[in-house]
Amino acid sequence: MSSSGIDRYGVMGFPVSHSRSPIIHRLFALQTRQDLQYELLQVAPEKLGSSVRQFQSTGGKGLNITLPHKTEVMRLVDDMSERARQAGAINTLSFDDDGIHGDNTDGIGLMRDLVTNLGLRLEGANILVLGAGGATRGILAPLLDAGPRAITIANRTLSRASDLVEHFSGADLLSACRFDDVATEDAYDLVINATSAGVKGETPPYPAAAISPQTCCYDLSYGLAATPFCQWAAARGAARSIMGWGMLVEQAAESFCIWRGVRPDTVAVLRQMSISAS
Ligand code: ATR
Repeated sequence: MSSSGIDRYGVMGFPVSHSRSPIIHRLFALQTRQDLQYELLQVAPEKLGSSVRQFQSTGGKGLNITLPHKTEVMRLVDDMSERARQAGAINTLSFDDDGIHGDNTDGIGLMRDLVTNLGLRLEGANILVLGAGGATRGILAPLLDAGPRAITIANRTLSRASDLVEHFSGADLLSACRFDDVATEDAYDLVINATSAGVKGETPPYPAAAISPQTCCYDLSYGLAATPFCQWAAARGAARSIMGWGMLVEQAAESFCIWRGVRPDTVAVLRQMSISAS
């Protein structure tokens, strides 16, 4: 609780000024009539431990953790959910008398956006994931659980994609390749961009042959204008090219629900933010 008696939450990242989490959580709080405050907390990597503990000791109730802290923060928690362990990353902390609890709501956030908001059918789908970093690791378990026909991980550095396939061993439908080696006999239903290339203003040689007129393209990144990946996918004739605004709002809703026990209406918030499924 803050000195004003209102429960405190926030997002820690570095940099963090661009984060939309404060506006999203304020909209959730208004909608569900929850009295809380949500702060933007810029914390350098070397200050992560002390900042989290200070937030906890001054009565903070929960934190969202964003880049670059999502893996490092795993060392600070007393326990974590199975999905955070699978993802190798934490994006949500809750504080109570038993200590610090870690969770990861990114994967479920993506699934809600794909399945509920966008109406995609993932059962039996042929899926291509571009990139093999932390973002890919975070979404693989829920994607596998959705019962696709196959998931291919294509990455600039093959060894990182192969390492992920090994990590999720037992998943026969998972395979790894380089961008220029993506199999194209079987059209992809869904292509997910999980690279950080666009964020860095780079447009790598994404595999053009992977896009057919039936392919839905989804970029985990988002921006006010179409991301380089979405522009690239639309220019290649993809059926749809969608930025990850919906995933952002859905992962936030799951965090909010963990903290407050109330699920906000995400469609209304996406509408309020002038973002709707395309
Ligand atoms: P993380 O810290 O989550 O691992 P990262 O190192 O920024 O994030 O990389 C995320 C993904 O984006 C990786 O798959 C990376 O490819 P490599 O494994 O080959 O490094 C990919 N990526 C980033 N910039 C890229 C670029 N310009 N072209 C292709 N892939 C890129």
